[in-house]
Amino acid sequence: MRILFLGDIVGKAGRLAVKQFLPKLREDLRLDAVFANAENIAGGIGITGETLDELFASGVDFATSGNHVWRHKEICSRLEKDRRILRPANYPEGAPGRGHTVFTLKDGRRIAVLNILGNTYMEPLPCPFRTALAWAELPELDEVPVRIVDFHAEATSEKKTLGWALDGKASAVLGTHTHVQTADAQILPHGTAYLTDLGMCGVELSSLGMDFDIVLERFLTKIPAAFKPAKGDISLNGAYLDINEATGRAREIRIIREHCPAWKMEKDAGPRDDED
Ligand code: FE2
Repeated sequence: MRILFLGDIVGKAGRLAVKQFLPKLREDLRLDAVFANAENIAGGIGITGETLDELFASGVDFATSGNHVWRHKEICSRLEKDRRILRPANYPEGAPGRGHTVFTLKDGRRIAVLNILGNTYMEPLPCPFRTALAWAELPELDEVPVRIVDFHAEATSEKKTLGWALDGKASAVLGTHTHVQTADAQILPHGTAYLTDLGMCGVELSSLGMDFDIVLERFLTKIPAAFKPAKGDISLNGAYLDINEATGRAREIRIIREHCPAWKMEKDAGPRDDED
């Protein structure tokens, strides 16, 4: 099974990157499914129903999220009723929506997906390791060999260790949240594809998708100021996976990087407005 998983899509620039690059990638890579971390699709932080609809209309089949998922309250009801989007699994009991599911493709093939949040340098939620290991043992997954994990976490040590812990129990463990693609795509000894961070979709010449000037001012003065999504050339980052559907073991993991200069984007799609 051929899967593309896109890293954090940041604001309108990120949504444009998906529209710009995904149709050709889908064709060239003969993709069966496209996943994306969507926690920052609306204005660079959070998710709205409208931006999520736009993402699905652009060809993304399934979305994961992270710590910013709660920013726009309207998403809570969507998390409850739309099985194509997850919030991290290790939020306390009673949180809206679900942290894992089995996603069914149009042709009936199934993919188990887990979205989980790290603890190190992040909010101290229930243990991601225990949550992920318990998920891997769920009886409902017995007949679902293809299993993908989005580990939304800050620390590389935590991400790498969860990859190791799930080796042979998941088809892929992919990191998100730090927005910088890492160069460690590999298949672990028991067949799990691993990458510490998928990178981001949006304006890469920025501070994680946000305008440099505001972020620099915050570092210099320590005075809070609202972030603003950056403008400029647009990139798409993610990973391509080929998974043996019978065993769930990964055959291949490869990083994907696409880039389009802003002038070309405007020539093709018209000038970008300020709305995000
Ligand atoms: Fe995040």
